[in-house]
Amino acid sequence: MALWGGRFTQDSDVRFKHFNDSLRFDYRLFHEDVEGSRAWAQALAKVNVLSEQECADLLRALNELEQEMSGREQEIAVAGDEDIHSYVERRLIEKVGALGKKLHTGRSRNDQVALDLKLFCRSAADDLLKAIRALQRELLKVADQYQGVIFPGYTHLQRAQPVTFSHFCLAYLQMLDRDFVRLSNARNLLNTCPLGSAALAGTAYPIDREALAQSLGFKGATHNSLDAVSDRDHVMELLSCASVSMVHLSRLAEDLIIYNSGEANFIELSDKVTSGSSLMPQKKNPDALELIRGKTGRVVGALMGSLTTVKALPLAYDKDLQEDKEGLFDALDTWHECLDMMALVFEDIKLNTDKIEAAAKGGYSNATELADYLVSKGVPFREAHSVVGQVVLYAIEQKKPLEELSVAEFQKFNAVISDDVYPILSLQSILAKRNVLGGVALEQTRAEIEALKKHLG
Ligand code: ARG
Repeated sequence: MALWGGRFTQDSDVRFKHFNDSLRFDYRLFHEDVEGSRAWAQALAKVNVLSEQECADLLRALNELEQEMSGREQEIAVAGDEDIHSYVERRLIEKVGALGKKLHTGRSRNDQVALDLKLFCRSAADDLLKAIRALQRELLKVADQYQGVIFPGYTHLQRAQPVTFSHFCLAYLQMLDRDFVRLSNARNLLNTCPLGSAALAGTAYPIDREALAQSLGFKGATHNSLDAVSDRDHVMELLSCASVSMVHLSRLAEDLIIYNSGEANFIELSDKVTSGSSLMPQKKNPDALELIRGKTGRVVGALMGSLTTVKALPLAYDKDLQEDKEGLFDALDTWHECLDMMALVFEDIKLNTDKIEAAAKGGYSNATELADYLVSKGVPFREAHSVVGQVVLYAIEQKKPLEELSVAEFQKFNAVISDDVYPILSLQSILAKRNVLGGVALEQTRAEIEALKKHLG
């Protein structure tokens, strides 16, 4: 049964019906549609469109329907109705007869779908905020556990200066913290209630829209009916939050894939999150991480899709807006899954500390220290930089790290170098010197970890 048809003399073409119907994906708004309908029934009772008894009967039927279909939402998808709003109304009429036909008084599917989608976005955001926190806690555990492990730090994927594995983990923890704040802000901004905007001009019944908004847990009602039914900022914003966060996850995935490669061999991923090759028995592939990296594409694609759908769309509601849902659902599911999967990766990650320390020592990552040492002896930095460049070239030829050159060898390049150079070339001293807020010194990392433990609870 369609919600319209009075002014039509012909049935829809089945191909058009399939093209036009949205139930196969908007069935996911079932609970939101029931929740909004309950609030609307109560609002109608307050303005005497429904009697107290009628309202009570409708609420009972809505509750019954919700209970009946809980856990069976997938069945709704194939019920044949045009959309979730049509489905709920039909089922209601089946339960309470003619009374069910009164619920749509003063309401349009345009404000109804706008409401349902906002309710959905709000609870999806709440779930995602929890998932971000859960991943942050896993990262923090690993950062805490491996505090002392000195790790090669890179720029241009060339070994640059030593850092610690903790410091690396904490870098991603910061990104996730911004993802958390970004999503909380988006949730806060979307938290206004469009119900009562009707098709486009506002409902003709004297509904107290502020009270209605409160009853649905919103911080207030929307202030313009044209905007309220056509606003999809929250879809674009959640997709934007998802995209930025997926870009972070993708970078983390890529770093770990590199660290897990046969060439680096810094980390070992658990059997739980890797898979084998059907041909090559020795292989253990980082599929979880590759999929996280790969899925970033479809989330960013969904953002582009939603921006493009809304671009140049005339006010107010247009059917184009029905295209807002599939990309949103898919992207938020994907984001959530990737956050969970990354947490699983960190749950059992192992470090090959020997390999890591050897790599941190190699690559002349203490060359900057030697330059600073020369500066401390009065050599201008630009000159020191060039001297150290020559020392490194020599050391490469000798196949030795800097700390294994003798004082005599050093002095060939600059006479001020003496015995006291060796302690400053050690990795420990390099770290310890960077004892500024946000720096890599163990003392800083320890303080940061303690602060984050409190912050994440
Ligand atoms: N299925 C529609 C959507 O998702 C619901 C609103 C339909 N409105 C209408 N005026 N036909 O956007």
